[in-house]
Amino acid sequence: MSAGPMTVSYNCREQLCIDTAPGPGAIVIFGASGDLTKRKLLPAIFALYKRNLLPAQFAVIGVARTAMSNEEFQAEVRESLKGEGTLDDSFIERFSYVSGQYTESDTFARLDEELERVTGAHKTEHNALFYLAMPPALFEPIVKGLHDEGLLDETDGWKRVIIEKPFGHDLESAVALDHALKQYIQESQTYRIDHYLGKETVQNILMLRFANAIFEPLWNHTYIEKVEITVAEELGVEKRAGYYDKAGALRDMFQNHMVQMLSLIAMEPPAVFEADAYRDEIAKLISSIRPLDGQDLGHMAVRGQYVESVDPENPVVGYRKEEGVAPRSQTETYVALKLFIDNWRWRGVPFYMRTGKRLPKKSSEIAITFKPIPHSIFKPIRPKDFNQNVLLLRMQPHEGMGLSIEVKSPGSKLCVNTLEMDFSYSDFMQGVDIPDAYERLILDALLGDQTLFVRNDTVEASWKLFMPLLNAWEANLDNVPLCFYPAFSEGPKEANEILEGGTLAWRKI
Ligand code: BG6
Repeated sequence: MSAGPMTVSYNCREQLCIDTAPGPGAIVIFGASGDLTKRKLLPAIFALYKRNLLPAQFAVIGVARTAMSNEEFQAEVRESLKGEGTLDDSFIERFSYVSGQYTESDTFARLDEELERVTGAHKTEHNALFYLAMPPALFEPIVKGLHDEGLLDETDGWKRVIIEKPFGHDLESAVALDHALKQYIQESQTYRIDHYLGKETVQNILMLRFANAIFEPLWNHTYIEKVEITVAEELGVEKRAGYYDKAGALRDMFQNHMVQMLSLIAMEPPAVFEADAYRDEIAKLISSIRPLDGQDLGHMAVRGQYVESVDPENPVVGYRKEEGVAPRSQTETYVALKLFIDNWRWRGVPFYMRTGKRLPKKSSEIAITFKPIPHSIFKPIRPKDFNQNVLLLRMQPHEGMGLSIEVKSPGSKLCVNTLEMDFSYSDFMQGVDIPDAYERLILDALLGDQTLFVRNDTVEASWKLFMPLLNAWEANLDNVPLCFYPAFSEGPKEANEILEGGTLAWRKI
């Protein structure tokens, strides 16, 4: 199949497409009438059903505070899945509903009865996946409620609990949350979601690195000069100020998604792509990141906050004027950081990372810049006249890859030019929907595969890394000021300073 002037061909080898449907089980969603359930979880469950990746014996029980009958809940499910394809009755009739307060034992007793009912009606064999689509303050009460009712007991069927970030607000609260949950569930039952790990393109980083022989020999400090990771969002804080103004970009994006992406780029290959082998490597990598403690944070980190846009065509208010944000909020909506990994492979290679809201557009990419050529045989063209090769991994939008290489232009005896090879997965996967991250992750949780879920030691290692920065920002130290940037600009100009004192430039978003 061809795309523009570049031909990309792709042969799907079906025998190498490995997907297993899970065995019988029920999915219990706490927060059944919430936004996450409607926008992500129900469409993911339906997509799995359409792909025959749900077992014949499954049921979904919604739990929330609003009183509702099973039929009313089923009508909500239909409404949420409008536009996703034809819903047959055998799918909808698997949905039922339990209402109640999350902190009352009655709720869990009723849930117990409902689980018994679906075990009989849909043969779910007492296997249950509890999805806590809830704010973190409710994790412990719900897990305790489940435990006290005996619903986490695995003598009869498996029991797993999915929790959503944030896993704590800082190191101390993350450790406390983990201790609190461990009173009731084992690590093997705990599935911490980082939805970035479910993204096809993020998983493809591993396939690119470890299913090809041409990249890995170059994947180190001898050949790579720098790595730049950008996760830019065009949206502002939207309706989430209540959470976001207390969290900020470092907690919201860096401590989890950004660190996970860095880990995938930089980790050593595990011997097998299985939960513990893989997560051991992630843990090793995160603990090899040079601690920020004791470093000159003013040269390593920049925090920013958006102010109103200067574009009359696209007027938006500044962060402090957003609904629910404190008028003098010091919360960062942008973070740029320079990190080093102190191990044999990456010694001395800077990882420049940035994320922010209200940047020019939604764009996530990883750009790997290779070192300059050591010597030019093409005199008088000097080594520094050649552009350095860049391998670009684009997560969104238009998931794909790019590679820039130097070529001779026809005509003159010597004439160097840069060829940008670029392709999007959608060009060769026409007609194939790229599954949403939640689809992959719910499927893996039903299969009991924890590989793409975050282990508690990596959550803690990541908090540990960022605590000195969070503390410095909280103390408002002079060398780490809050810098302002107009909405839809490239971010605060101070971010250039961490690129070797402004001698380099960030890639344009
Ligand atoms: C979430 C953050 O985890 O990730 C949001 O809480 C952010 O603030 C979102 O907008 C970005 O995810 P995606 O998949 O849209 O890139």
